[in-house]
Amino acid sequence: MVAELIKGNEIAQAKRNEMKEEVSRLKKEGIVPGLVVIIVGENPASLSYVKGKTKACKQVGIDGKLIELPEETSEEKLLEVIHQYNEDESCHGILVQLPLPDHISETAIIEAISPEKDVDGFHPINIGRMMTGQRAFLPCTPYGIIEMVKAKNITIEGKHVVVIGRSNIVGKPVGQLFLNEHATVTYCHSRTPNMKEIAKQADILVVAVGKMNFIGKDYIKPGAVVIDVGINRKDDGKLTGDVNFEEAEEIAAYLTPVPKGVGPMTITMLLQNTILSAKWSHQVGVH
Ligand code: GUN
Repeated sequence: MVAELIKGNEIAQAKRNEMKEEVSRLKKEGIVPGLVVIIVGENPASLSYVKGKTKACKQVGIDGKLIELPEETSEEKLLEVIHQYNEDESCHGILVQLPLPDHISETAIIEAISPEKDVDGFHPINIGRMMTGQRAFLPCTPYGIIEMVKAKNITIEGKHVVVIGRSNIVGKPVGQLFLNEHATVTYCHSRTPNMKEIAKQADILVVAVGKMNFIGKDYIKPGAVVIDVGINRKDDGKLTGDVNFEEAEEIAAYLTPVPKGVGPMTITMLLQNTILSAKWSHQVGVH
């Protein structure tokens, strides 16, 4: 079997085309979705991510603003900036790029963002709403993963999903979203002794550990769906995932490539959350 690729870049582009039309409809009603992206310091990888985010905003007509603050910005100053945008009605989404410098508490910053503008879905209120199945901003990478699987018409209900990795940004919430879709979910992590046996039972295997080639063919059930969330840089500078692509391709039914897999979906769902926030704040399409 040669796995069919789930091409995140194509799914993302189709979604962005639809969003562009939706944003132009909203603009006719006087609603301009606005996203403020805040970065503290000059971490090159973070800078490149945030530029990608504001560029994607432009692509679909969202008013994306990038605020670059110096490394030595105090927690108080950053809180002040967040409070300012919490009050600003033209801003529907606030994203503070992580990681933050050590002298700033990420928890304090995440909790300062209004839950109604928390388009990252990191605020405990949104995490709680997601867990209880209420309307919430869903964290972008997990949300994107669910959308990719749905775009391929892969049934989730009743499937065994195994998530490898338990980060707050990806592992934990992606399991919860699959559970909300009526899957049976198992988590594996660094202290799981029999990871191979568990992974081999997965109908859908989600890998988010951040280690190159961590998953080979002996972790994959024939015909499984394999979602590779890893982004690792090889010695030659090229990007690669957590899954050994060549081995997985031989045995899985569906496989996400790296790059052009999960990555492009993450920013797309950020745009989606910003549009939703604009609609919800104007009571459009409220449900
Ligand atoms: N750093 C790495 N990924 C993310 C993300 O999804 N959101 C934010 N705010 N920071 C990140």
